[in-house]
Amino acid sequence: MSYQIKAKEKFEKLRNQEDVLILSIESSCDETSIAVVKNGREVLSNIIATQIEIHRRFGGVVPEVASRNHIMAISSVYQEALDKAGIKDSDIDAIAVTYGAGLMGALLVGVNFAKGLAYSLGIPLIAVSHVHGHIAANYISHHALKPPFICLMVSGGHTALLKVEDYNKFSMLGTTLDDAVGEAFDKVARVIGLPYPGGPEIDKLAKNGENKFKFNLSSSLKNTFNFSFSGIKTEVVNLVHNKAQKGEEINHADLACSFQEAVTKELAEKAVKACKLSNLNKLVVAGGVGANSRLKERLASLCQDNEIEFFSPALKYCTDNGAMIGSMAYYMLKDGLGLAQLNLTAKPNVEFRG
Ligand code: KG4
Ligand code: ZN
Repeated sequence: MSYQIKAKEKFEKLRNQEDVLILSIESSCDETSIAVVKNGREVLSNIIATQIEIHRRFGGVVPEVASRNHIMAISSVYQEALDKAGIKDSDIDAIAVTYGAGLMGALLVGVNFAKGLAYSLGIPLIAVSHVHGHIAANYISHHALKPPFICLMVSGGHTALLKVEDYNKFSMLGTTLDDAVGEAFDKVARVIGLPYPGGPEIDKLAKNGENKFKFNLSSSLKNTFNFSFSGIKTEVVNLVHNKAQKGEEINHADLACSFQEAVTKELAEKAVKACKLSNLNKLVVAGGVGANSRLKERLASLCQDNEIEFFSPALKYCTDNGAMIGSMAYYMLKDGLGLAQLNLTAKPNVEFRG
């Protein structure tokens, strides 16, 4: 029997199987991660080989360097994921992989490794969108959480407000018109000499500062769910350069705090407004910037004032990891979605499926 037929049969069988073990692979940026996830919510292992130290000296991710390091890491990460989960390769029911969005070369390493595994084990391959994976990170951290809810998606590549109507039904309420919020955090950090990735560094530094600069975000998007972060980013960069030209000091902690205050206010207020307008009393944050302590503080407090339940993933599931891909793949499988053929390729620009 050909692989395709066998995989399709097994996929259909798994939809009704009580326990499903998915081995999931994530390699879209600078983390090579493989996890084993049971029934979408129980993480048996989640191994992450991060390349942060390697890219730090370049001030950001260098795509070619990322691909090469994924190739070097992926086999041992796979072995470690099996060992830590205490399973053999024959125990795996399906392979899941991030096929986009992300860096082409980096994605291809995961996609090709996944195809090889699925083919050699004769099991289905499930293609998962990275942003959907970030949403599913919340199912791991909150076992009772179920759609519908509003999701504030904030990562290095995406910023959006989504209505998650069901596990596989998303509608976009708004998005960024220019930079993703993580990109803005990283850029501001870079201009004040903080190492990559800048988001967590700004978060730390802001704790020692005050909101002295009182930045404002563009008011033209006030009555929409869209965002724009390039204006504030440029304002900060220009301010730093102007002061440097005049030989004047600028307090970096105050700058970090002021930037973070303006950005998190905008994100939190629009997210809560989206809940109220959609009549939904659950708000979920997803993506790397979801790790930001001030954003979480603001969201938690605004949600409390508005009787909205607030969810955020555990810190280790906020940034890129394989487990979130395994969780999303489980819910795709249950709905009969995502079965990939062996001609699956990486799609750097895939975003949200409606
Ligand atoms: O979701 P993620 O790991 O990768 C993408 O899919 O893009 O997000 C990475 C982004 C980076 O821009 C990083 O600076 C930001 O998340 N980030 C944070 C924090 N932790 C990570 N931004 C602000 N505060 C944090 N604590
Ligand atoms: Zn991500």
